[in-house]
Amino acid sequence: MAKAFSLILLLSLFCIAAIAAAPSNFIKSSCSTTQYPALCVESLSVYASTIQQNPHRLVQTALSLSLNKTLSTQSFVSKLNKFKGLKSREYAALRDCFEEISDGVDRLSRSLKELKLCNVKGEDFTWHISNVETWVSAALTDESTCTDGFAGKALNGRIKNSVRARVINVAQVTSNALALINQYASNH
Ligand SMILES: *[C@@H]1O[C@H](CO)[C@@H](O)[C@H](O)[C@H]1NC(C)=O
Repeated sequence: MAKAFSLILLLSLFCIAAIAAAPSNFIKSSCSTTQYPALCVESLSVYASTIQQNPHRLVQTALSLSLNKTLSTQSFVSKLNKFKGLKSREYAALRDCFEEISDGVDRLSRSLKELKLCNVKGEDFTWHISNVETWVSAALTDESTCTDGFAGKALNGRIKNSVRARVINVAQVTSNALALINQYASNH
């Protein structure tokens, strides 16, 4: 009797463990199509309980994360621009980068609003999701342009490295969001 009870208890624990792992499997398999799957899983697993197995929520979280990271990079770049004693080329690169990141912020916030419409009955899914795909892809270009501005030999040292590292990370998160959006669009 006690043995049977322990067995049932053990089996229930296995089931609970399996259910708890399910969202993470969903995230893992969705992320496997992105260009940076490990970063994708790592950054989205925190939101597993919100995402569950819902493709819309997955995409919404990925896009919101990309916007938030882009916003924090925008404020980082704007703070660096207030530093004294940089070379004029560095100020110029920072200003350009700030503009590009700000364009990215605009496009990503618009995309997030547009994405909400994809989940509204009676709205044209294909139209809204294709707008999202276009704008997120343009935001990714903005972010890459900023990185390119810091790639040249004219700039060196800490400013260049810290901006590049940040923007590369943001661009990877945005690239992942775009891949998940494309997947969501084609599965619809
Ligand atoms: C992004 O920031 C907004 C506002 O602070 C917050 O509500 C949202 O949960 C954040 N998104 C993610 C994915 O953390």
